[in-house]
Amino acid sequence: MIQMETIIRFNDPVSGDCRRMGLAAPTGYDAARPGQFVTLRFVDGAGPLLRRPFSIHGLIKENGSVIGIELLYKVVGGFTRQLSAMPSGSPIDLLGPLGNDFAVPDAARRIWMVAGGIGVAPLVFLARFLAEKGVDMTSCAVFIGGRSAGDLVCTDRFAELGMAVHLTTEDGGAGGKGLVTGPLAKEASSSPPDLLCACGPMPMLRAVAGIAEKRNIPCRASMETIMACGVGACLGCAVETRGDEKAYRHVCRNGPVFDGGWLK
Ligand SMILES: Cc1cc2nc3c(=O)[nH]c(=O)nc-3n(C[C@H](O)[C@H](O)[C@H](O)COP(=O)(O)OP(=O)(O)OC[C@H]3O[C@@H](n4cnc5c(N)ncnc54)[C@H](O)[C@@H]3O)c2cc1C
Ligand code: FES
Repeated sequence: MIQMETIIRFNDPVSGDCRRMGLAAPTGYDAARPGQFVTLRFVDGAGPLLRRPFSIHGLIKENGSVIGIELLYKVVGGFTRQLSAMPSGSPIDLLGPLGNDFAVPDAARRIWMVAGGIGVAPLVFLARFLAEKGVDMTSCAVFIGGRSAGDLVCTDRFAELGMAVHLTTEDGGAGGKGLVTGPLAKEASSSPPDLLCACGPMPMLRAVAGIAEKRNIPCRASMETIMACGVGACLGCAVETRGDEKAYRHVCRNGPVFDGGWLK
C-alpha cells in the first residue's frame, strides 16, 4: 500500500453520470489484483475530509510495465461531483492498492460475472486479467443490470474479449426487462458455471449468493459499503456476516470481496 500525490491523466465521460479516469501510478501497482481498491482525497484540502474508495477498473501499461490505473466512477455526491470537474493534469492524493481480490482458482474455466450498475468497474479488470492469464473468455459470461439503458456501461469491453453479454434494465430500455438475477437464474439452472463473481448493491449480491447456494456454485461478492479510514483503523465499514460463525467483518480489511455464503 502506497500513498502518493499523483496526477489525473484523463477524466472522460462514459455515459450519463459515469466517467472513466486515468491516474498516473508509476510504482506500487504491478501486483494489483482485480477486486482491490484505492482511496482518493483532494490535495488542497478542498472537498470531504474522508478519503473515498474506488475499485481498480484497469491497469495502464507501457512497455509491459504498469504506469497508471483506471477508475470508473458514478457522480453521486459532493466528492464525485468535484472529481468529475477535474481536468487532466490535476493533482490528486492516491492510496492503494487496498483490500483483497476475487482470488479466482486456477481450475475455474467457466466464470460468470454479475454487475449491478457501476459494479462493472472491478469486473472489467477481472475479465482482462483472466484473458491475460490465458483463460478462454468465450467460455465466460457477464450479466449486467441497471435501472435504465444509461446504467449499462462497459459492455464493449467484455464483448471484445469474446464473452457472452446478458443485459437487463428495470425499465426495459435496453436488454431484457427486469432484474439482472432473472437471466442469471435461468442460465444457471441449465448449465451452472464454475464460479460466480459479483459486484453491485447489497440486495443484488444477496440474490446472486442465493442463486449460487441453490445451485452449489462457488460465489465471490464484492461489497461497496460506506467507508471512513479504508485501512481497518475504524469501524466505519463493519458488516455482519454469516458463515462458520456469525461475526462482524471489515469490508476494507477483510474484503471487499467475500465468499457469497458469508453475506447476510
Ligand atoms: C470497496 C469500494 C469500491 C468502490 N468502487 C467504486 C467504483 O469503482 N466506482 C464508483 O462510482 N463508486 C465506487 N464505490 C462507491 C464510492 O466510494 C462512493 O460512490 C463515493 O464515496 C461517494 O462519494 P460522494 O462524496 O460523491 O457521495 P456522498 O455524498 O458521500 O454520497 C452520496 C450518496 O451515495 C451513497 N454512498 C456513498 N458512498 C457509498 C458507498 N461506498 N456505497 C454505497 N453508497 C454510497 C450515500 O449514502 C449517498 O446516498 C466503492 C465503494 C467501496 C467501499
Ligand atoms: S473503513 Fe475504517 S475500518 Fe474499514
